[in-house]
Amino acid sequence: SDPDLAERARAARAALGDSAFVLGHHYQRDEVIQFADVTGDSFKLAREAAARPAAEHVVFCGVHFMAESADILTAPDQKVVLPDLAAGCSMADMAAIDQVEEAWAVLSDAGVAERTVPVTYMNSSAAIKAFTGRHGGTVCTSSNAQVALRWAFDQVGGEDGDGKVLFMPDQHLGRNTAVLQLGLRPEDCVVYDPRRPGGGLAPHELEAARMVLWRGHCSVHGRFSARNVAEVRERVPGVTVLVHPECTHEVVTAADMVGSTEYIIRALDAAAPGSSWAIGTELNLVRRLARTHPELDVHYLDSTVCFCSTMNRIDLPHLVWTLESLVQGRTVNRVVVDADDAHWARVALDQMLALPG
Ligand code: 13P
Ligand code: SF4
Repeated sequence: SDPDLAERARAARAALGDSAFVLGHHYQRDEVIQFADVTGDSFKLAREAAARPAAEHVVFCGVHFMAESADILTAPDQKVVLPDLAAGCSMADMAAIDQVEEAWAVLSDAGVAERTVPVTYMNSSAAIKAFTGRHGGTVCTSSNAQVALRWAFDQVGGEDGDGKVLFMPDQHLGRNTAVLQLGLRPEDCVVYDPRRPGGGLAPHELEAARMVLWRGHCSVHGRFSARNVAEVRERVPGVTVLVHPECTHEVVTAADMVGSTEYIIRALDAAAPGSSWAIGTELNLVRRLARTHPELDVHYLDSTVCFCSTMNRIDLPHLVWTLESLVQGRTVNRVVVDADDAHWARVALDQMLALPG
């Protein structure tokens, strides 16, 4: 990366001192992550944002839904900025609030809405988190999806009852957690397709289901296949395959271990020197892990899959522009959630932060 730009970023960062706090998601570029005061997965970063009342500006190096959550969790006079407002998330965009309202009407017509708790993945808009808060549900991340689902089923009579969870927007995280961690059967999960009338589901299918999964997925993790797993096992004898739960059920079932980005990082920190690993998550993180663990043999699960293109929109030029603007007293690219959505989204986020563990 450009040494002049890095120098400008350093100077602007130093000039801002404690008035700014820079958060960086693990999928960010190296040229950006070097300036993060804290790095983390989306759960850790939400907690960190909530714990920094001193900073006037929270610079979020991540994607739009993360900046929205930070705005909701920080004090009213704190300003959250996203260095490039076009850094969205294709998965979060797969669930629009009017589609979710319509899905709830479908569940009501089928007579199951009163026995259904919505659970939304952090990767969703503030409007959908607010919907979740209004209907007594919770947010979850890939680190606490299991605890969140157990909590949600407890609200409607426990895992053995006939209560349901509407899980949005990542069908894979929902299915993987329900089947592999809660012991539900794959056939207990149905997929609600917002582009089809009634979600493409008959009322009796909704009645029989325990998990109603939104038809959404991550464009990065959704590209790994079971063939990738088989190929790496052939290529690298003794390899341990470790994947993110946004991967398909087929991939997660074929892998040896599954967990959030923080889990993946901790697993490699604890790995035996000389051991071989194939990692199924975003490439910036896998490359960083390979570099910081020269004692391990670290492989990318599929050499043709690349970065999260929206995470990568945050680059050094955008960061420099943002920091220098703040130094000049201009708050650029502020992300603000409207007050009513912020209130109800906070209810769902606080519910998540109150979950055990
Ligand atoms: P985590 O940060 O929760 O591991 O999620 C990965 C991701 O896709 C973030 O967009
Ligand atoms: Fe969204 Fe997937 Fe990118 Fe995460 S990695 S921001 S879920 S598209």
